Amino acid sequence: MRRAMGAWRHRPLTMPHQGLLLFRMAPLGMLLGMLMTSCFTFCLSHKNSEFALTNPEESSTKETERKETAEEELDPKVLEVFHPTHEWQALRPGHAVPAGSHVRLNLQTGAREVKLQDEDKLRNNLKGLKKGKRLDINTNTYTSQDLKSALAKFKEGADMESSKEDKARQAKVKRLFRPIEELKKDFEELNVVIETDMQIMVRLINKFNSSNSSLEEKIAALFDLEYYVHQMDNAQDLLSFGGLQVVINGLNSTEPLLKEYAAFVLGAAFSSNPKVQVEAIEGGALQKLLVVLATEQSLTAKKKVLFALCSLLRHFPYAQQQFLKLGGLQVLRSLVQEKGMEVLAVRVVTLLYDLVTEKMFAEEEAELMRETSPEKLQQYRQVHLLPGLQEQGWCEITAHLLALPEHDAREKVLQTLGALLATCRDRYRQDSQLNRTLVILQAEYQALAALELQDGEDEGYFWELLGSINSLLKELR
Ligand SMILES: *[C@@H]1O[C@H](CO)[C@@H](O)[C@H](O)[C@H]1NC(C)=O
Ligand SMILES: *[C@@H]1O[C@H](CO)[C@@H](O)[C@H](O)[C@H]1NC(C)=O
Ligand SMILES: *[C@@H]1O[C@H](CO)[C@@H](O)[C@H](O)[C@H]1NC(C)=O
Ligand SMILES: *[C@@H]1O[C@H](CO)[C@@H](O)[C@H](O)[C@H]1NC(C)=O
Repeated sequence: MRRAMGAWRHRPLTMPHQGLLLFRMAPLGMLLGMLMTSCFTFCLSHKNSEFALTNPEESSTKETERKETAEEELDPKVLEVFHPTHEWQALRPGHAVPAGSHVRLNLQTGAREVKLQDEDKLRNNLKGLKKGKRLDINTNTYTSQDLKSALAKFKEGADMESSKEDKARQAKVKRLFRPIEELKKDFEELNVVIETDMQIMVRLINKFNSSNSSLEEKIAALFDLEYYVHQMDNAQDLLSFGGLQVVINGLNSTEPLLKEYAAFVLGAAFSSNPKVQVEAIEGGALQKLLVVLATEQSLTAKKKVLFALCSLLRHFPYAQQQFLKLGGLQVLRSLVQEKGMEVLAVRVVTLLYDLVTEKMFAEEEAELMRETSPEKLQQYRQVHLLPGLQEQGWCEITAHLLALPEHDAREKVLQTLGALLATCRDRYRQDSQLNRTLVILQAEYQALAALELQDGEDEGYFWELLGSINSLLKELR
């Protein structure tokens, strides 16, 4: 559903509403609910694309979005299922699209078009990544289901027993829920060595840390490590033997790819993991991330670093304070002002939106629920984000980004303009270019919303965008 095919997607990627409602001044409770569920869409949605690694833009993000869209649109009770081919075909109202199809709206005809997506590329990418067979069993949390799937995975590759015996053995393993040591013996008989996640991580860190490893080996080690540190416990275990610091130091490697993949691991390790976030700040991760962001040339590296930065700052007001002190906003500003960095600009703006709303949420929450820890609120009070944004010209930068052609970019920018409204109102009012852009977009989305309505969708995506444009225009009068 991305515009990769010269078309644009029809449904928003993630929660299109929060910003719009935000500056329409939604009731407080509603605001809280929305923030709780939908804040940090950037980090979350970005994680998907990073996970795919080999070609984030083209593989898994798209995949997930497509699935979501297909699920939304598919209601087997009322819809006739459409069978796409490899050519674009028009979709009639009432047609359901099977999961995994590619949908676009043809702007000339207003018709929605569907085709099968090309998944070979994705598969090949994934194939290249699977190295050998490895049983991933976490000794702390294994369940019969884990064992079953681990066994099944092994069997797939090994192909040395008849399936009947497999089933019998699986059933047996499932029935007998025995200590891991005994199970290990079983696996040893099958010639499989079980490593715990911890052992695997130690091995990977040693590989990465060893001067004997080649660049490829180091990158492969980081790539594998990223998979493990998605689990909160694993990421915390990484602290226990100094592994996190080794990865953080990788950020000042002289080898650009190592910096990139170190950031890749860190982004996953920081995500919603306060213990790791705290250690990372102490380990100097923030400075290093900012330095890489300010100096690194490659777009893919910048994306990963930006993601790691976002994961580090989320829900961590102390890190946000440090970020402001270290001149983080200036680094981000140079980033969005570079040519050809529009993709990053939207991500940066989304990050700022997340931070602004997170602080707002913390304040609202403290007001509503008296029991909220005052220290946390104190921490947030010391994050002087909005004044910093205003001083450094972010009102104008954000307003200019509204000229981007993609709908989802505009959606993010509109959300952010809404969140910055209280701070930036005067600047916005003086910005005649912003007024012009808004008036043009208003006309554009009126037309698109009308088409949407014809298509049987009231209160659709464009209708929402139009609503937020109208509110902004009203506010700026
Ligand atoms: C590197 O390899 C050499 C020879 O294979 C070995 O003697 C040395 O201990 C290794 N160094 C490290 C840090 O692993
Ligand atoms: C990484 O390597 C350095 C020097 O080779 C060593 O001092 C350090 O203990 C290693 N760190 C880990 C976590 O293995
Ligand atoms: C990165 O910096 C840390 C301290 O800031 C240092 O210990 C480490 O050796 C550096 N690593 C590289 C590869 O330069
Ligand atoms: C915005 O532009 C419209 C049309 O160009 C104009 O009528 C309106 O007065 C402008 N509003 C402001 C606040 O400048």
